[in-house]
Amino acid sequence: MTSTSVDSSEPVEITPDSAALAHVELLLNGAYPLSGFMGRAEVASVREHGRLVDGRPWSIPVVLPVPSDLPRGDAVTLTDPEGAPLARLAVTERWRESGVTYLAGPVTTIERPAHGVFRRLRLSPGDVRERRQRPSDPLLCVVTSTPLHHSALAEIHAAAHHLAEETDTRTPTSATAEVLVLVDTPFHDERTMHAVLAARSHLPAGTQVVAVALPEYTPETAVGVAQGFGASRTLVEPVERPEFGQAELHRMLAHGKPLPGWFTPPEVADELARQWPPRPNRGLTVFFTGLSGSGKSTIARGVSDRIRESGRPVTLLDGDVVRRMLSKGLSFSKEDRDANIRRIGFVAAEIARHGGVAVCAPIAPYAATRAEVRAMVERHGDFVLVHVATPLAECESRDRKGLYAKARAGVIPEFTGVSDPYEVPDDADLTVDTTEISVDHAVDLVLDTLRSGGWVA
Ligand code: ADX
Repeated sequence: MTSTSVDSSEPVEITPDSAALAHVELLLNGAYPLSGFMGRAEVASVREHGRLVDGRPWSIPVVLPVPSDLPRGDAVTLTDPEGAPLARLAVTERWRESGVTYLAGPVTTIERPAHGVFRRLRLSPGDVRERRQRPSDPLLCVVTSTPLHHSALAEIHAAAHHLAEETDTRTPTSATAEVLVLVDTPFHDERTMHAVLAARSHLPAGTQVVAVALPEYTPETAVGVAQGFGASRTLVEPVERPEFGQAELHRMLAHGKPLPGWFTPPEVADELARQWPPRPNRGLTVFFTGLSGSGKSTIARGVSDRIRESGRPVTLLDGDVVRRMLSKGLSFSKEDRDANIRRIGFVAAEIARHGGVAVCAPIAPYAATRAEVRAMVERHGDFVLVHVATPLAECESRDRKGLYAKARAGVIPEFTGVSDPYEVPDDADLTVDTTEISVDHAVDLVLDTLRSGGWVA
């Protein structure tokens, strides 16, 4: 979240986080039966009773977190991520809970939103109503954040059929229902929509497919939004289908095994294979972590050369090198180390998005920050963690850069292993200790791991 105050006479501008931006769009397009962001009492009522203060049933807290130092004012301009004004919030309440500041009040359109992939499919409930072929039919609304496989498609056909029969008891054979599929489509992720569109010919005739960014994927949110789109009944697709867990599916795709025809239509299988190519063509981050002087950089350089020789380009993000450009000026405080690792993670994740290989070698002393990087990368590709576990005594006795001596003398403060923490990973795919083995041997061990996992030939 960023905030910039322009001058005191103009409304303050903020760019809401992605959940709040999703709320803004649902408020403005009429999917929510609300005029704006909720205040403290409204949120309490929704949480405790599943109702708005006026008694209407509703279970989604619609809140706008803002920076606590945001200047006070009667109005705030809400912008999209590029800073284009979207909406005006007339502030009626400023409240705090668990250390977070929130603003409440009605929201009105400044400009129709233009950000987000599949914008042409981000229809409002009004658009959907206009496009219905038989507006008097009941509407089955399917909400999904995952591709639709055979079991989901069968469930949709059956639910549409039942809904039609229930609604029209006089002529059950000719009864029909319309189907609307709401695909949870975050602003920067087109993949689920592509996979759902691939299943289009397997959906009931006339099904409308609409993109919507949900603030969070919970059954309550899905049902609430579906109702806003006029659903007579809602089917919320689970993230995991019973036949295959997500993990099993990913394993098959990783090894280039075709997804079985009984599980998913061929068009969906092809689309998923395009999104998750087999490992030799898939985005990959090899992330080295360990103390200064442990041998990370030397091993990482050897590994990146060997991957290059195998025919894949590599971007090497070494700790010391990154600190001379991408992270120039950052200190070794916890905050700055985390910023450094997040920058490396951001770049590695972008490389993975394009199917490339990044080899990273920072100390990365904090487990939580390493986990953040893993999550960022795994949205697009695979993450292999190598702990270079050369013990402190060995790193210190080598002291190639003379930094440990300075750290012991107190000349360099906050030195990892001496006066600053290093959290040993418990999720490493490989642990190597260069006390007993040569760098070449360590490089071989990493390459063996990459080869046996199928990442390099
Ligand atoms: S990290 O903690 O943010 O991951 P990074 O890998 O970028 O660290 O930088 C570590 C390198 O910076 C070390 O190899 C060493 O050469 C140098 N360095 C300078 N000061 C420190 C310090 N206080 N702690 C650790 N490394 C330091």
